Amino acid sequence: MRMQFLRGEALQRYNTLALQARAQAFVSVSTEADLLAALTLAREQQLPVVPLGEGSNVVFAGDLDALVIQQRMKGIEVLALADDAVRLRVAAGENWHALVQWTLAQGYFGLENLALIPGTVGAAPIQNIGAYGVELQASLLQVHARQIADGKVLVLSNEACEFGYRDSIFKHQLQDQLVITAVELQLARHPAVNVAYPALASYFAEHADVDPTPQAVFDAVVGIRRSKLPDPAQVPNAGSFFKNPVVAGKLAEELRAAFPGLPCFSQPDGAVKLSAAWMIDRCGWKGARLGELGVHAEHALVLVNYGGGSGERLLALATDIAASVWDAFGVRLEIEPRVYGRRV
Ligand code: FAD
Ligand code: EPU
Repeated sequence: MRMQFLRGEALQRYNTLALQARAQAFVSVSTEADLLAALTLAREQQLPVVPLGEGSNVVFAGDLDALVIQQRMKGIEVLALADDAVRLRVAAGENWHALVQWTLAQGYFGLENLALIPGTVGAAPIQNIGAYGVELQASLLQVHARQIADGKVLVLSNEACEFGYRDSIFKHQLQDQLVITAVELQLARHPAVNVAYPALASYFAEHADVDPTPQAVFDAVVGIRRSKLPDPAQVPNAGSFFKNPVVAGKLAEELRAAFPGLPCFSQPDGAVKLSAAWMIDRCGWKGARLGELGVHAEHALVLVNYGGGSGERLLALATDIAASVWDAFGVRLEIEPRVYGRRV
């Protein structure tokens, strides 16, 4: 099937916040040849490129003067199978959660804590997706991409991706430079579950009869997530709207003394990650509703669009929330999703 370039395409159904915006041009790519043709067109028409997966971590604050390239390349390939490990190449347009399910069914372990994270495989390295004590970086070997400027192939090792908490080189030096086409992962063939994350540890403490197998961890993660995160298909949202702030140990100690309930997670370098949800909750925002927009009643870190809300107003709400956290705690919150189309 020939790919179609669409002009002025409405983006509402391509982002999980269901924000209304238009793309100057839009195309879905299913093959490397499609992608190369799209990149050539962008160059000829001097249009910036915005790669898009399933739109679960973007905020469209206005129209995009760009060619939006929706990544739909599919395919999972076993590159090497040893007694203890498997090496996979997964195309960027595969759905992340479907991949997690597939790996478990094959007896390939390591992704079970990352169940039910929305989005594509190709977007996973951008913010080094993480949940329930595990991050993508633990399984990722390589990222394969095409440079937007000239279509050339680029392969990055795990180290070259400079992964951090919700961070990678794709948010810094390589931001807006490439379209990821595939990732290579290494998974274990013998289970080695990680249930240290507080919510998982208490789940298995409360369900002492359940063996913490990878399947049980997957089921627990799915259950916990469903109990507090809204399904974007029912209530549009982008997951956590802010990152958990990482502050110096000394400031964390002062905050802990002033606010004994504040959840704090020590980092290997001595810094401390604070719970943004707890601070926002404490400022009274949980369940707040402002017209078409609001703060989810089950989780203070999730902003929701009840229908017809604009990206600009959502960002104004986020600014108000961050200001009240600053006033109460002296801690700055940083927005997690990528914002596009903001007029300055
Ligand atoms: P998009 O939203 O389409 O894109 C996000 C960014 O990545 C954009 O800047 C885009 O340009 C870029 N990008 C996307 N694909 C490519 C590509 N192929 N090449 C280059 N750049 C690309 N995240 C977590 O880490 N942990 C969670 O637990 C979690 N829970 C969530 C729960 C909910 C309900 C929701 C809605 C979101 C959650 N998220 C979570 C955020 C989101 O799922 C991830 O960031 C995910 O990786 C985004 O995938 P996507 O395909 O939707 O990316
Ligand atoms: N909490 C509150 N009020 C709330 C919600 C939570 O006080 O309304 C407290 C809880 O009591 C808990 C703490 O905040 O002690 C942490 O909550 P949770 O376990 O839900 O995790 P989180 O820090 O809010 C992070 C990620 C999520 C990820 C979960 C599980 C970030 C920005 N968010 O949320 O990722 O799924 O941990 O690992 O790091 C996302 O990135 O979109 C996302 C959903």
